[in-house]
Amino acid sequence: MIADAEGFRLLPDHLDRAGQQELVALVGALAQEAPFTRYVMPRTGRPFSIDMTNAGSQGWIADRQSYRYSLVHPVTGRPWPAIPPALLDLWRALTDYPHDPECCLINHYRGEGARLSLHRDEDEEAMDAPILNISLGDTAIFRLGGLRRNDPTRSFPVTSGSIMVFAGPARLYYHGVDRLRVGSSRLLPDGGRLNLTLRRVTRPTP
Ligand code: SIN
Ligand code: FE2
Repeated sequence: MIADAEGFRLLPDHLDRAGQQELVALVGALAQEAPFTRYVMPRTGRPFSIDMTNAGSQGWIADRQSYRYSLVHPVTGRPWPAIPPALLDLWRALTDYPHDPECCLINHYRGEGARLSLHRDEDEEAMDAPILNISLGDTAIFRLGGLRRNDPTRSFPVTSGSIMVFAGPARLYYHGVDRLRVGSSRLLPDGGRLNLTLRRVTRPTP
């Protein structure tokens, strides 16, 4: 495990092969209900290089207007499917947050050219809740910065089955994905990488 004093943790290969396969199957079922979509970025309208969908009462979306949470899928207009119990179990086991997450954002990196530029997750109201990040499939070259955009960054490989937790001050670390090591895993039938992030969006009512 790699941990820092500000609340970042990397648990390499936390899930065994069967656990990873179970999550891949769950994502397949979720995507039947809530198809993967290629969002565009606000203002520029430039498309992301990855496809996204969600589970949960809240789903993260992007369009020309803004980045935001939505109660419904932007294409189907239907509520997102529920977060599967196996994912809630991981959240309860690996975070000490007393409430369940409301969003599971699912990113699909299909292969060469799929990346995610350095950003912070800051569209949530519940900034005190951690973010739990699960990797499946091809290894990602992950980039981790600090609390300010100009802080030094480092990059390291994140393998299939690895889990990262961004808690405490590290909840607001800049982060991104430089690229995949395409072909490094055989977990997904068509290759590529799935990334799941569990997030609390609204502040729980006391
Ligand atoms: C994200 O920042 O939303 C996902 C990062 C990743 O793919 O690991
Ligand atoms: Fe993020």
